[in-house]
Amino acid sequence: MFTTTKILNSQCHSQPRLTALLACGNNFMPMSWHMPVSKAPFRYAVAIRPENESYDLVHALGHFSINFMDYSYFEAMEKAGSQHGGDKFALTGLTPKKADAIKSTLIEEAYMIYECRVVEIVNFGDHDIFIADVLCIHNKESKDVLPTLFLGRGYYETISQSPKRVERD
Ligand SMILES: Cc1cc2nc3c(=O)[nH]c(=O)nc-3n(C[C@H](O)[C@H](O)[C@H](O)COP(=O)(O)O)c2cc1C
Repeated sequence: MFTTTKILNSQCHSQPRLTALLACGNNFMPMSWHMPVSKAPFRYAVAIRPENESYDLVHALGHFSINFMDYSYFEAMEKAGSQHGGDKFALTGLTPKKADAIKSTLIEEAYMIYECRVVEIVNFGDHDIFIADVLCIHNKESKDVLPTLFLGRGYYETISQSPKRVERD
């Protein structure tokens, strides 16, 4: 039996969501509202609330990186989301890495990183949506990773290690 509501409450989020660290300047924050929006050119969208320091930074600098983290870093990710600004590298123990194409930090421990430049900003409510060109993608050779999924209210999970495949023609 369904219960029906017209507002987004804690029971109604489309979770779990793949969660990454969005870095801009020397700051970073966990982010679960993000998605690819075009393959060629490769473009990516992130939704950021004005309360976050990252919101002002991405508006001011016009670029950011998205750092996909193994599940083993879930506590560092949660810590990065526990405060606005400050020295998040000291707070989390993560390591800064120099970018190739943008003037924002990357995160060394990530298994994959997108360097992004904002091409358009739109707003449909309480987050701004930053649409960005992905200028380059860094991929670690060993992809033996467990992606980090956010379930809400401080809970994190990862995928099962026995994926099922549908046979195709
Ligand atoms: C798992 C997780 C996912 C989050 N996803 C988003 C998101 O997609 N967009 C957003 O604006 N805030 C999101 N937040 C909240 C910010 O990460 C949090 O407010 C953070 O402290 C902001 O840091 P800053 O102020 O230094 O930018 C998320 C928090 C957590 C813990």
